[in-house]
Amino acid sequence: MPQRFRHMLGIEPLSAEQIAFLLDQSKSFQDIQRHPLKKLATLRGKTVALAFFEPSTRTRISFATAAARLGADTMNLQAEVSSLRKGESLLDTVRTLDAMKPDCIVMRHSASGAPEFVAGQLEIPVINAGDGTHEHPTQALLDALTIRDRKSALMGLNVTILGDILHSRVARSNLHLLGKFGCRFTLCGPAMWLPRELECLGYPVRRVARVEEALEAADVIIVLRVQQERLHEPALPLEEYILLYQLTPKRLGLARPDALVLHPGPMIRGLEIAGRAHGPAVPAHRNTFGRFRGRRRCCTLRTGA
Ligand code: CP
Repeated sequence: MPQRFRHMLGIEPLSAEQIAFLLDQSKSFQDIQRHPLKKLATLRGKTVALAFFEPSTRTRISFATAAARLGADTMNLQAEVSSLRKGESLLDTVRTLDAMKPDCIVMRHSASGAPEFVAGQLEIPVINAGDGTHEHPTQALLDALTIRDRKSALMGLNVTILGDILHSRVARSNLHLLGKFGCRFTLCGPAMWLPRELECLGYPVRRVARVEEALEAADVIIVLRVQQERLHEPALPLEEYILLYQLTPKRLGLARPDALVLHPGPMIRGLEIAGRAHGPAVPAHRNTFGRFRGRRRCCTLRTGA
């Protein structure tokens, strides 16, 4: 049955039927991506405001590309060179965009709940492109589509989520989405990044300390980035994380041969996943999370995309 959505703020309030509808709807657009002429007129005359208050490569460019290919115009807020730098508030900023009459706003913000707040203030639909540690609904929809394409169905899969789960909006949205389709979850990472609250969401969730055990029966392995920008806990030695939790070819050999590995990006090679970075790098100045600034790395693989 066709579904109507006013906003897209999170996966949690959606039903499995609504999610299946969205995934089914996307099939015809997937086919167009493979066509030499990728332009449709579905959104001709519409304007999409892209308001990213946090850095993004994949999500921002995905939305900009989708809007262009569907015939819409875009307004692009660049937070770092906007009047936010002069002290303009979030609400005044989005009201300024709204005054130019976009038809919807796609928004990323470091504060959990910011898109819901904006949705309550404006008349136009708001799409959450990632809010704090809360939800990243369109990433979960993309991951679900990828899983469904590769595994034929979402129902009843064993899903292992590996890494910094505490700070991950991708993990929360994936738990809500895949949990509604009867998936079982194994969460693995440092104990301080495995929140007990996730066992109370109503989905089958187990927490496992050893990565080898977590990989054993997995149909799908979701590897998460260490969210250095959100770390407030006591520092964890970098070598220890790599030693205990990095996904390496040897560890992956313990998983089922048909296990599907997803990483939402940005992928920090040599940290949560084995490999070397390609491209310009700045050296890490401290060897612990919380202070480690990492290397700027060029990502060459997005398993979620
Ligand atoms: N997956 C994801 O949200 O990536 P970006 O931060 O590059 O948008």
